[in-house]
Amino acid sequence: SAAEKGGHEYFMLKEIEEQPDALANTLRGHFSDGRIVLDEQRLSDQDLRDVDKVFVIACGSAYHSGLVAKYAIEHWTRLPVEVELASEFRYRDPVLDRDTLVVAVSQSGETADTLEAVRHAREQKARVLAVCNTNGAQIPRESDAVLYTHAGPEIGVASTKAFLAQIAANYLVGLALAQARGTKYPDEVAREFAELEAAPAAVQKVLSTVDQVRDLGRRIADSRAVLFLGRHVGFPVALEGALKLKELAYMHAEGFAAGELKHGPIALIEDGLPVVVVMPSPKGRAVLHAKLVSNISEIQARGARTIVIAEEGDETVRPFADELVEIPAVPTLLQPLVSTVPLQVLAAEIAKTRGYDVDKPRNLAKSVTVE
Ligand code: AGP
Repeated sequence: SAAEKGGHEYFMLKEIEEQPDALANTLRGHFSDGRIVLDEQRLSDQDLRDVDKVFVIACGSAYHSGLVAKYAIEHWTRLPVEVELASEFRYRDPVLDRDTLVVAVSQSGETADTLEAVRHAREQKARVLAVCNTNGAQIPRESDAVLYTHAGPEIGVASTKAFLAQIAANYLVGLALAQARGTKYPDEVAREFAELEAAPAAVQKVLSTVDQVRDLGRRIADSRAVLFLGRHVGFPVALEGALKLKELAYMHAEGFAAGELKHGPIALIEDGLPVVVVMPSPKGRAVLHAKLVSNISEIQARGARTIVIAEEGDETVRPFADELVEIPAVPTLLQPLVSTVPLQVLAAEIAKTRGYDVDKPRNLAKSVTVE
């Protein structure tokens, strides 16, 4: 009913607006007495200290949350982090032992591919931590420990608030590992957590600016394809933006690491092709920023219609942006939490304009319980 959708036409639109709460609720209670607290102590500090390698296994958007977290966890812990599609994991021969931490990320907690990967990891004696949005689901039941995301029930088939909450939860895993291993001083861990706690307000700020994105969505809704580019944590955001558009608008959409453009994808650029570019901060990531500005000028010269998601006050990129979408300045590792939001809104608006049901895209189910 309209009431359940909080006055929105679709659950997805309501869920996009619930993202600040989803983040705040996921972080709540995980910092006390100056320390990150992960779970109900099923993983002890000693367990975390013993970890010498991390795998994140997941599907779809949850997989993208792992790709984002890899940047943070490796940086904070100096542990190698592999992010794996759950459906591939047990069909190769992953190197697992009791010092391997496997983080299984799943909104539903019922995804068969992820569940089978969890079973495989446990057979090989790895420790499995589930990051899950659904109380008592099968994946947390079969894991050694669980860290719940508290995004609340997600009804729209396309993941939105659960995705943001997964990033936050994965970051908590990284901070807990850094704390146990001592690769971050306690005051640094506290500072990172405080930055995370500021993210909901930044997401709220983006939400107040997305009308411009809706308008843009209506204007590009008849495009045949859309490309998404990013670097560093902006690369998985590009993948997520493309996935949303495929799922909802049934458009050909692909995300690339912008550095790969010259190795092939630039051949796809043609007149009028919309290309969404997720820009890093000009201050926080000056070198990558400059490289992306040069990428954008190249694709614009070849006729692309550039849609640039950039930090507010980023003047260097303005001349190359056919459409400029500004997002608040936040620390680099938090940028995915704000830059994903306009991409969600863009996909939903394009789908609506094309006349599709945003909550129930064709051929898809909310949880995929077959392999
Ligand atoms: C995202 O929009 C999807 N519909 C889908 O990719 C989803 O993220 C994937 O199926 C994993 O689901 P899970 O988090 O419930 O395991």
